[in-house]
Amino acid sequence: MPSIVTGIIQDLNRTLIDAASIEARVAEMAEEIERDCAGEVLTVVALMDGSLFFVADLLRKIDLPIRLITLSASSYHGGTSSSGSLRVAWPEGMDLKGQTVLLLDDILDTGLTLSEIRLHLEAQGPRWLRCGVLLSKKRERAREVVAEYVGFEIEDEFVVGYGMDFDGRFRNLPCIGVLKLDA
Ligand code: IMP
Ligand code: MG
Repeated sequence: MPSIVTGIIQDLNRTLIDAASIEARVAEMAEEIERDCAGEVLTVVALMDGSLFFVADLLRKIDLPIRLITLSASSYHGGTSSSGSLRVAWPEGMDLKGQTVLLLDDILDTGLTLSEIRLHLEAQGPRWLRCGVLLSKKRERAREVVAEYVGFEIEDEFVVGYGMDFDGRFRNLPCIGVLKLDA
């Protein structure tokens, strides 16, 4: 009998990136980051909830001492396009002065989220700061932002799975797919 998750995957408009391709690319990204940060203690700032699976898989493949800070950031508030206003829950007493910092998110879309958070982190005076995203949409950005580590460049379509949601659903799909918007 097919599982419930298999049924949902069949309901996707199409699978964009399968689980094996995600795993292979995440391993390459981990290798690159490990090389670039050799000898350092890495402070990872991960934006929840979308990057949960990406961060969990990536960090387990990086052989360095890591401090993990998670931030809750949301700009969607339910739909399939950014509302343009970002809500961030900043933890108290966060101090990145002199640290080697890697900011991670699931997907770079309008650029609003990463640009705003990157500026905020830069203001704390880290020794080194870079951004990594699993996906980057090929589209015009509302705000310019650099992501030094990019897993895959994708077309400007709404995707779900591997942590990414539509209204809180589909995060647990092992692949990344394009949603049938009438589903
Ligand atoms: P930005 O601020 O517009 O760059 O949006 C980034 C945030 O929007 C990401 O952290 C995602 O959580 C969310 N997002 C953007 N595009 C998608 C998508 O296609 N599927 C699910 N979430 C998305
Ligand atoms: Mg997000």
